[in-house]
Amino acid sequence: MRARPAARRRARPAPAAPGEPRGRPRSRSRPRPRPRRAPATAMVGREKELKIRFAPGRCELVEEDVDIPSRRVLITGATGLLGRAVFKEFNENNWNAVGCGYRRAQPRFEQINLLDSIAVHDIIHDFQPHVIVHCAAERRPDVVESQPDAASQLNVAASGNLAKEAAGVGAFLIYISTDYVFDGTSPPYKETDVPNPLNLYGKTKLEGEKAVLENNEGAAVLRIPVLYGEVERLEESAVTVMFDKVQFSNKSANMDHWQQRFPTNVKDVATVCRQLAEKRMLDPSVKGTFHWSGNEQMTKYEMACAIADAFNLPSSHLRPITDCPVVGALRPRNAQLDCSKLEMLGIGQRTPFRAGIKESLWPFLVDKRWRQTVFH
Ligand SMILES: NC(=O)c1ccc[n+]([C@@H]2O[C@H](COP(=O)([O-])OP(=O)(O)OC[C@H]3O[C@@H](n4cnc5c(N)ncnc54)[C@H](OP(=O)(O)O)[C@@H]3O)[C@@H](O)[C@H]2O)c1
Repeated sequence: MRARPAARRRARPAPAAPGEPRGRPRSRSRPRPRPRRAPATAMVGREKELKIRFAPGRCELVEEDVDIPSRRVLITGATGLLGRAVFKEFNENNWNAVGCGYRRAQPRFEQINLLDSIAVHDIIHDFQPHVIVHCAAERRPDVVESQPDAASQLNVAASGNLAKEAAGVGAFLIYISTDYVFDGTSPPYKETDVPNPLNLYGKTKLEGEKAVLENNEGAAVLRIPVLYGEVERLEESAVTVMFDKVQFSNKSANMDHWQQRFPTNVKDVATVCRQLAEKRMLDPSVKGTFHWSGNEQMTKYEMACAIADAFNLPSSHLRPITDCPVVGALRPRNAQLDCSKLEMLGIGQRTPFRAGIKESLWPFLVDKRWRQTVFH
């Protein structure tokens, strides 16, 4: 059995600056000496790894040689809903994957504040990735409306800087964007259609796309719609958050039946990212904007009914609300993405919604919640 396989694949963490507590995110305003990292070549080939070996009556820790894959990928937002799936997908498919997070980074991932341009420069130059998948963002529309400057710093400025650093080492950058760049009035949308975001979140993501492509003309933008998948908490996804309202059928629950959505499994997006990266390593013309999406059109009310159906639960307490929502940031009515460009490249994977949601939600069934401590 391996002891913490992810740890072996990490770039060596930068030592804390003098006087700085270990593990605290660094601020750009605080000058610090440049940390010396191991050169990237130390992270390919063979490396020692600690493994636990079990024998009757005892277990021992042994050091063994392991192969490190030669293809390197850096994933930002690796602690988030999508980033976790992207990290896993590359890690399990013969890539040397390093994940970065921020508040939730330790102990599994590198702790990098993407607003700290020195830290970003250091990790990219030390690890020398072939591919960077940029998942980190502020993606909650209502939070973006209430904290526009902070959201713009992360979604726009940090994305532009990451793209510039990626270009500096010749890495292929995949910037994850959203269907919310469209106004939802004339679906389905092709990559060439003119965006017109209705809310600030969509605007910052669109500006992020432009900042990325201006700083790195070989980069890719991957637009995706609402996500679901294995969550740490139900609130992590706009889809899984409905589960308690579905389960507690003694209380009626209003569900939006106005906005048309295409719930997409994070595992499918992760596979698309890996396929896109592998295609690009063979063909440098693979770049620019792409769309990926599930193909089952559903309102939130319909998703809630499908969740009930998947778990054989009643749905008669769910009430469809057909009016346009009046609270919160404006949302597009139907921002369906046309995915034919990726399909033509032979790229794509779609998990049926009922199967995917059941796999994601079963640990959150009321009688199974004790299992969360085991699996999450
Ligand atoms: N979720 C959706 O339904 C959806 C739909 C369409 C598009 N997208 C796009 O998909 C991407 C991934 O979304 P998600 O749902 O996975 O997001 P998420 O779960 O909210 O994760 C956000 C990630 O960003 C990291 N982060 C936040 N501030 C940071 C900073 N200053 N420096 C470094 N990292 C920072 C977080 O790290 P810590 O948690 O460790 O602080 C976390 O890993 C985003 O680009 C989003 O716009 C998402």
